[in-house]
Amino acid sequence: MPLSNRRTLTQYLIEQRRRFPGASGELNALILDVSLACKAIARSVAFGALGDPSTRHISAAQPGGDTNVQGEVQKPLDIVSNEIFIRTTEWSGNLAGMASEEMETPYQIPGPYTRGKYLLVFDPLDGSSNIDVNVSVGSIFSILRLPDAEREPGRDVTEADFLQSGAQQVAAGYALYGPVTMLILTVGAGVVGFTLDPNLGEFKLTHPDIRVPADTQEFAINSSNSRFWEPPVKRYVDECLAGKTGPRGKDFNMRWIASMVAEAHRILMRGGVFLYPRDTKDPKKPGRLRLLYEANPVGFIMEQAGGRASTGRQPVLGVQPSELHQRVGLVFGSRNEVERIERYHADTATRDVANPLFAERSLFRD
Ligand code: AHG
Ligand code: MN
Ligand code: MN
Repeated sequence: MPLSNRRTLTQYLIEQRRRFPGASGELNALILDVSLACKAIARSVAFGALGDPSTRHISAAQPGGDTNVQGEVQKPLDIVSNEIFIRTTEWSGNLAGMASEEMETPYQIPGPYTRGKYLLVFDPLDGSSNIDVNVSVGSIFSILRLPDAEREPGRDVTEADFLQSGAQQVAAGYALYGPVTMLILTVGAGVVGFTLDPNLGEFKLTHPDIRVPADTQEFAINSSNSRFWEPPVKRYVDECLAGKTGPRGKDFNMRWIASMVAEAHRILMRGGVFLYPRDTKDPKKPGRLRLLYEANPVGFIMEQAGGRASTGRQPVLGVQPSELHQRVGLVFGSRNEVERIERYHADTATRDVANPLFAERSLFRD
């Protein structure tokens, strides 16, 4: 099919809206604004070490090098991308407020803009440690409803407004800035993928129904953390590594890009399982990835594509958040593998109850 005949993101959203005759079009407008932010970030990223002249004023005012609330150093492009998300979405009257990896507290929509009923939560640039080595990065977003928008229209948002489980998400997606720029989206009716047509600057529907294969022979984990893994994770990886002659009876391949959005994309395209599990590296951090703007949106996409997302102990989308920047153990991808990892966690828990001497946290832990 010639590219020009493909549906655009706008067309797709209008068709989806027909399923909800009462819908006002605000969600569609918000998603289109987010897609514009992603296009702008894609352009900024593409300038690399040359620096994007159109965002130089942002980098001049905030040169990066500061530490964000996560205790991680902000790259100039983290700040630029955060700013782009804010400026392209705050004006429209569709948002009640925003929260981002790069902002400690929720962002209040300033006057004179009208405040709307949706909350936007985002990781403006995921995998930003890969920027300097020219490896794929992305942006991740999640859209929630303001809990009591009808009762108190226009009020300030609080952290508590954002503490909704992933099951409450209205839409979620990510943009991937790789050899091509893509936008992957779910509005709760499956997962679709758009490719940015560089001639038109339009996202065109190229992947109308993305499904994650239930089985895989490919896993992704940062094995430099292996000494901190909990027993079920160690068992799973050991069995993968044992290959054909081990208990799984087949060989496995391994990948680690260190851009979760790129790993999620590979898994959506050809299957696989990703693990950044809870570990014992830092007792204050129950995992590496953040629940609200990394695990939940990717979890929603995986589930909508027929895959699965879990903490190992429970479905990610069922976790009730307690903090805006909360971290969580995360396992996602091909359904049968994720379920196997969940079974291994359940087995360990059962064994611990049966014999507390060998419990996960006991002296005799293996
Ligand atoms: P961010 O750049 O938004 O801070 O996220 C990076 C995350 C994620 O994308 C990736 O999977 C993980 O950090 C990589 O962690 P390691 O450096 O431990 O491999
Ligand atoms: Mn990230
Ligand atoms: Mn980030």
